[in-house]
Amino acid sequence: MPISYNPQERVFRLDTPRTTYLMGLVGSEGFLGHIYYGPSIPDDNMRYLLRLEEKPFTPDALPRERASFMDCFPFEYPAWGGGDFREPCLRVRAPGGGESCGLFYSGHRIYPGKPPLEGLPAAYGGGDVCDTLEIICRDPALDLEVTLLYTAFSDVDVLCRSVRIRNGGQTPLDLTAALSASLELDGQDLDLITLHGSWSREREIDRRPLASGKQSAYSLRGISSHQYHPFLALCQHSASQEQGLCYGMTFVYSGNFLAQAELDQFQRVQAVMGIHPDGFAWRLEPGEAFQAPEVLLTCSDQGLGGMSRSFHDLLRRHLIRGQEKHRPTLLNSWEACYFDFDHDKLLELGREAAECGVELLVVDDGWFGRRDDETTSLGDWHVNEEKLPGGLKRLGEELAELGVGLGIWVEPEMVSPDSQLFRQHPGYAMAIPGRAPTLARNQYVLDLTQKKVRDLVYNQIADVLRSAPISYVKWDMNRPLTDVYSAALPPERQGEAAHRYVLGLYEMQERLVTDFPDILLENCCSGGGRFDAGMLYYSPQIWCSDNAEAMDRLWIQEATALVYPLSSMGAHVACCPSHTNGRVTPFETRGRVSLPGCFGYELDPGKLTEAERAQIPGQLEEYRKYGPIFRDGDYYRLASFRENGYYDAFMAVSKDKAAAAVSYTQVRSRAYRRSLRLPLAGLEETALYRETESGEVRSGLGWMRGGVLFPAVQADFHSVLTVLERV
Ligand code: DGJ
Repeated sequence: MPISYNPQERVFRLDTPRTTYLMGLVGSEGFLGHIYYGPSIPDDNMRYLLRLEEKPFTPDALPRERASFMDCFPFEYPAWGGGDFREPCLRVRAPGGGESCGLFYSGHRIYPGKPPLEGLPAAYGGGDVCDTLEIICRDPALDLEVTLLYTAFSDVDVLCRSVRIRNGGQTPLDLTAALSASLELDGQDLDLITLHGSWSREREIDRRPLASGKQSAYSLRGISSHQYHPFLALCQHSASQEQGLCYGMTFVYSGNFLAQAELDQFQRVQAVMGIHPDGFAWRLEPGEAFQAPEVLLTCSDQGLGGMSRSFHDLLRRHLIRGQEKHRPTLLNSWEACYFDFDHDKLLELGREAAECGVELLVVDDGWFGRRDDETTSLGDWHVNEEKLPGGLKRLGEELAELGVGLGIWVEPEMVSPDSQLFRQHPGYAMAIPGRAPTLARNQYVLDLTQKKVRDLVYNQIADVLRSAPISYVKWDMNRPLTDVYSAALPPERQGEAAHRYVLGLYEMQERLVTDFPDILLENCCSGGGRFDAGMLYYSPQIWCSDNAEAMDRLWIQEATALVYPLSSMGAHVACCPSHTNGRVTPFETRGRVSLPGCFGYELDPGKLTEAERAQIPGQLEEYRKYGPIFRDGDYYRLASFRENGYYDAFMAVSKDKAAAAVSYTQVRSRAYRRSLRLPLAGLEETALYRETESGEVRSGLGWMRGGVLFPAVQADFHSVLTVLERV
């Protein structure tokens, strides 16, 4: 059993294969405190870590002086108002207007398996792989019940945490903060890692020493965002790629979030994660409950690499649905021709795809309504028969004759002011009464908090999907939420609108994957603006960035792989010069950089040179043969171009350790250099491995200590794929 309770010690213990998490109950009231999270420890008495003997921080005899206790006790789920001045996970406004909450243990349950979280994406697992602990805490003054949920897996070093808050009283209560998890650590020499970026520069790694005070990543854009990411890591200052202690937290959620760490007066660190409290409020009528989204927590003593591998395993095994689905190689029309296409052009692309051996043609933006540019028709999800006579049905059937599948692009959350939908239902766009909403990319956000709005859009799109042989859908979303307001809610509940929007989105995606189980869904948000574990519950892959230029992609994919498996990243060979940064790189290298993800082309093959076109079958062959090692195997980062400025290298080892693939890119050449020796990782030490190109055989240890020599080539953007097979 990964979870147990020791009634003598009053300690809860959660074990994963290599970590232990401990909490303890204190005093007759039942304060719940955090004791330990880290590499596995024996079942010793660790209660001393609660530091209950250290005066004046501990309440002595009654009547107590509580302030110093409240100020320093490591509350497992801190609440606002009683004297813990750090970030509260819970704030509750009582009918009288006061905001104070005190939580005390009232019971617990431990059971096998993991329950779903209603309406929310979450990890899943049966009783054979995980246990769940529910600790029920109560605030007697508010008649509030707070259930802390923990799941520990026996096959991966990740804990899942979330919270359910129920009003057990007779009067309404307002939650003004309901974060999902708080983590306490001792704060000596910790670095904080967060991801920041923008459109086309998603997820750059930011690592800096944790300083006193609060440091955070957040989104208030209604989406998890390009700018920050719902993830943070805290690691020892000395921690490297494969060594040192490292904690990671990521959020299974796709809207506003706060990911924050604070180093406090006692050199303690508190890390919290949850829905951002700004603009958030939730009315709980008597008997009603609020379920906060889930946080995934991991701890590794094998550096950042260990953290990443645990997240990858958890996501692939226990969260992403459709992970096993075939990921077809595809040709996407966007950079190939933008809005400028008709049936004949698409069929021509389909012919090119068929000749090259690409499996699927994706018709991106522009097939519906009167959409010839960005100004019109979002919301009118019916085929433009002028462009596509015979509709998607005819196109799909003709492509099928060529042996090519059909995929389409949709943007269901949006409406153009110039659309039938908006003209008929202007009230379906989000707007604050009396205020003109902000346009972005010429579009408004639909009010997904309203069921009738969701139904109208969903049914239109479902009709299209039923009308033609469509096997892939790219679900895009191209602007942040502004003017957040729900026409379905009364004034006192408007603080719920942003979260209810996300719940509406999840409901629509759940319907889609339920009604069309054979369709492969890929999420997208102006590239990777909503690349998060929440969306991965619905789509096994997400378009990583609109910047598909290979060298920039090395950065984006490196940072994305800190948390997410390579199998979740849409990665395509794009046009040159790059449409996003103008860089010209060899076709071969563009293929190599895309190979580890979900592979495709974002170009018109007819515009390639003969020599480039001739490389496509070889690229597809490499993808088919070696892509699975990257997508399903264990990932090791060997070198970062972000750090060294010259070269990038990573590898993956298949789970059975029978094969390994190394991707090396010399981003910039340097004068007068010898070859570069890169020690490999993750191989079976005593097994023999043959390098497929040269035939050289060495032991796993030999490759890991001796490494591979990558020649210094007189060229920028030079790539090498090295494959090892166990003999
Ligand atoms: C943004 C996406 O990221 C692109 O790939 C493309 O689908 C466009 N939207 C279409 O409008």
